[in-house]
Amino acid sequence: MVVPADLTARLGPLTLPNPVMLASGTCAYGLEMEPYGDLDGIGAIVVKGLSLERSEGNPPPRIVETPSGMLNSIGLENIGVEAFLRDKLPLLREKGARVIVNIYGQTLDEYRRLAEILGGAEGICALEVNISCPNVKKGGLLFGQDGRETRRVVEAVREKTARPLLVKLTPNVTDVGEIARAAVDGGADALTLINTLQGMAVDVESRRPALANVLGGLSGPAIRPVAVRCLWQARRAVPVPLIGVGGIHGARDALEFIIAGASAVQLGTVNFIYPGRWREVVEGIEGYLQRHGMTSLSQLVGSLEI
Ligand SMILES: Cc1cc2nc3c(=O)[nH]c(=O)nc-3n(C[C@H](O)[C@H](O)[C@H](O)COP(=O)(O)O)c2cc1C
Repeated sequence: MVVPADLTARLGPLTLPNPVMLASGTCAYGLEMEPYGDLDGIGAIVVKGLSLERSEGNPPPRIVETPSGMLNSIGLENIGVEAFLRDKLPLLREKGARVIVNIYGQTLDEYRRLAEILGGAEGICALEVNISCPNVKKGGLLFGQDGRETRRVVEAVREKTARPLLVKLTPNVTDVGEIARAAVDGGADALTLINTLQGMAVDVESRRPALANVLGGLSGPAIRPVAVRCLWQARRAVPVPLIGVGGIHGARDALEFIIAGASAVQLGTVNFIYPGRWREVVEGIEGYLQRHGMTSLSQLVGSLEI
């Protein structure tokens, strides 16, 4: 007889029934994924990054296909936090979805305000702080590329909310361990690794950049080894639970992250190709645990032997 494995994902103060989430920016506000499976079967849905005000994002073209991946320069287009709370969150709650809200600001005050507004909203299970945004007060340097700024932004959010706090790190740094430590010192409960890698493509016929914004973020299977490496380095730097993301298209990919130390994973670019893939990944992880005689996910997390 095959015994069902316990897939519970433990992320500090946040517990999810399974470890497979959808990544921010790749499933809109979650409701769009309904035709592909019941939303309450997904570990958690991380909605598109929200800012205080609605944002149009960058002009097109803002997506380019690349070998085993894609470049995007959406520029954090979103409906704004108030419209999300009014128009999207009630429907997500009705469907039983576990909702994680990804937030971004351009000043510490914007992050504080977002944390305050969302801290009081019913039906949100965690905040995920995107620190891959330019700090306008520091001349456009990304918050997440500097240890001190990372700590300050996480502290600012932490002061305003008692909700579980995930901090999403950028791979575009020299030492991801240093940034991971800064985020944990600032009060992060768990870390998400990684956001997109900075990239660029050229249209050789027009001799113009392929993206109107010139630079974009690379995602998809092309970045998976970089993401697994970042996760592993963060694992060695900090004691908090980690969430792996970057190029996961199937259960085997997710297992790489889990074995390297991830307590949960997020699916991103794959949602544009196979929007219901999350279900196969959940089933594939369970099948793996059973084949290897494990009764719970926690036995596999960080079981890498070197
Ligand atoms: C079109 C697009 C939009 C994204 N928007 C956001 C966002 O708003 N906030 C964020 O933290 N990450 C955003 N990301 C990054 C993804 O959540 C994820 O970290 C990254 O794509 C790597 O995972 P993947 O290779 O599975 O796509 C976006 C990615 C893509 C492709």
